[in-house]
Amino acid sequence: MQSNMGILKVILLGDICAAPGRAMFQKYSAQLKKQYGADALIVNGENSASNGRGITSRIMHFFKHNGANVVTSGNHIWASKEIYSYLKEHKDLLRPANFPSSCPGVGMTTFEVGPTTVGVINLQARTFMREFVNDPFLTADSLLTYLKTRTKVILVDFHGETTSEKMGLAYYLDGRVSAVVGTHTHVQTADARILPGGTAYITDLGMAGALNSMIGMKKEPIIQQYITQMPVKFEVDTEGPFIMSGICVSINTETGKALKVEPFRVIDHEIQLTEPDEYAEKRKNY
Ligand SMILES: [Fe+2]
Ligand SMILES: [Fe+2]
Repeated sequence: MQSNMGILKVILLGDICAAPGRAMFQKYSAQLKKQYGADALIVNGENSASNGRGITSRIMHFFKHNGANVVTSGNHIWASKEIYSYLKEHKDLLRPANFPSSCPGVGMTTFEVGPTTVGVINLQARTFMREFVNDPFLTADSLLTYLKTRTKVILVDFHGETTSEKMGLAYYLDGRVSAVVGTHTHVQTADARILPGGTAYITDLGMAGALNSMIGMKKEPIIQQYITQMPVKFEVDTEGPFIMSGICVSINTETGKALKVEPFRVIDHEIQLTEPDEYAEKRKNY
């Protein structure tokens, strides 16, 4: 779609969890795009596989078919090995840029909306995260050295646990990118705003999945784990109602500054999941 009057609107969605998240994406992504007059759609797909871990090439095609321009990810990107060849061959699925350079895939990409080039960066935070990734702040600096020569419209998905690290990176990049959005906690924060330098920010976009779950998983085993401190099997919660949350950010394409940020969450009481879970067998191994 052609951007109108130098304003580009982009919808960003938090972690899509398994079949419930995909069902919400399928039902509402086009509707949200229409409602907000959005030109582009970016979605975090790190939990979109049917067991809630990773993503497959079939699901990538599903996201693209349903209007996603770029799919970002995070720590769960390596869960399904099937995606490695997709990561090597395509640039519309990102893995965090600050993983070792030997990992398959890239952490930065661009796409075109009419005359506007849109840059997307995916980074992973370090605090309370298991992986020893490179410094996300300095990685952002080096990626921007290149990307700023291509465009001023740049969106950053910062996948991390803590509000402090996410806010720190947002302030660090304020005025240099159009938006910094947090993912990974699966809980949408109420702090969407535009920082003083013109960068839109939200600490976490939230998720798409079962509303009465914990991170999209059945809550009972997780509560049990808190009580017993013993390992449990995490299982996708497929019972409605379902939620999908994110933001729509409006960007001045000449300056790259954010003009407006509108958070939303959609709750659906109608979707019934009947599709057979093709990962049920594999899940026994977890
Ligand atoms: Fe996640
Ligand atoms: Fe994550």
